[in-house]
Amino acid sequence: MQGNPEAGALAVTQRILVTGGAGFLGSHLCERLLEAGHDVLCADNYFTGRRANIAHLLPNPRFEPIRHDITFPLYVEVDEIYNLACPASPIHYQFDPVQTTKTSVIGAINMLGLAKRTHARILQASTSEIYGDPEVHPQVETYVGHVNTLGPRACYDEGKRCAETLFMDYRRQHGMAVKIARIFNTYGPRMLPNDGRVVSNFIVQALRGEDITLYGDGSQTRSFCYVDDLIEGLVRLMATPAETTGPINLGNPHEITVRELAERIIAATGSRSALVFHPLPADDPTRRRPDITRARSELGWEPKTALEEGLARTIAYFRG
Ligand SMILES: NC(=O)c1ccc[n+]([C@@H]2O[C@H](COP(=O)([O-])OP(=O)(O)OC[C@H]3O[C@@H](n4cnc5c(N)ncnc54)[C@H](O)[C@@H]3O)[C@@H](O)[C@H]2O)c1
Repeated sequence: MQGNPEAGALAVTQRILVTGGAGFLGSHLCERLLEAGHDVLCADNYFTGRRANIAHLLPNPRFEPIRHDITFPLYVEVDEIYNLACPASPIHYQFDPVQTTKTSVIGAINMLGLAKRTHARILQASTSEIYGDPEVHPQVETYVGHVNTLGPRACYDEGKRCAETLFMDYRRQHGMAVKIARIFNTYGPRMLPNDGRVVSNFIVQALRGEDITLYGDGSQTRSFCYVDDLIEGLVRLMATPAETTGPINLGNPHEITVRELAERIIAATGSRSALVFHPLPADDPTRRRPDITRARSELGWEPKTALEEGLARTIAYFRG
């Protein structure tokens, strides 16, 4: 059955499913889609998502949350699917690695099946982790990656890689409109305070006046994209013509060392925290920076929010 017979023709309200919609990125995406006047169905099993993230959306009659684990099929009628469900921080995805792989792989199969049945467009929230510990810098979409299949991060990296394979195979086999976004480190309000992600960890440690934990000597680099910019990229990718599948890198090409990030957060919070150094965890990539040439040319997209501004908003959230 067709999702919405008028979809596309009149650019009318779309019925949009966001899996992982109660999570950090998902809740911002739901908000953005509701602001654009769409009907939003938010499916989440609340593993790392929180009802508090979407509580402010509940009064909106266009918003409908459903408790659902995407490793099981979901039967709804939709025009678009953003598949974001998957724990994203190492602490959470390594907590139950088998479930992590199931969420990426079986979840993708279920959501692709739903998209096939409803003729919906479907976007996969993939990740820079599919590049593994990259030997190519900055990472371009044509780089096929350097991933350890056996390590503790593999449940996430390989699950996401397999999901990309499934998306492209559904495209080739069934001619579906699929989109793959390779998301690089993103930060902002509603990150969980203790999930080991570097920005939230440092901010919480700085606000509490605790030591800030750096792994290795802190010289590994990351690039941080503010959540609003990332969401804009996802929405633009979904709006591209059916032939545009990606993958497209979405992230901030401005690279800084983890140590510099810690120092900036200490300065921005006015904290007296000291830096302490711990051994590097297994398979932790040493450098990570997206090449966003494709996003610039195909989506007219690039991040707009400066790190200072994004950090200030995120710090204000965590103070609250
Ligand atoms: N935030 C980043 O920097 C980043 C970077 C790369 C990729 N991503 C991807 O973006 C997506 C969202 O990440 P996030 O940062 O918002 O993480 P998050 O953990 O806050 O959100 C993930 C959401 O998915 C839900 N979920 C997990 N397993 C599920 C399942 N089996 N069924 C239904 N819901 C399930 C969680 O409860 C949570 O609400 C993830 O797919 C992640 O891999 C995020």
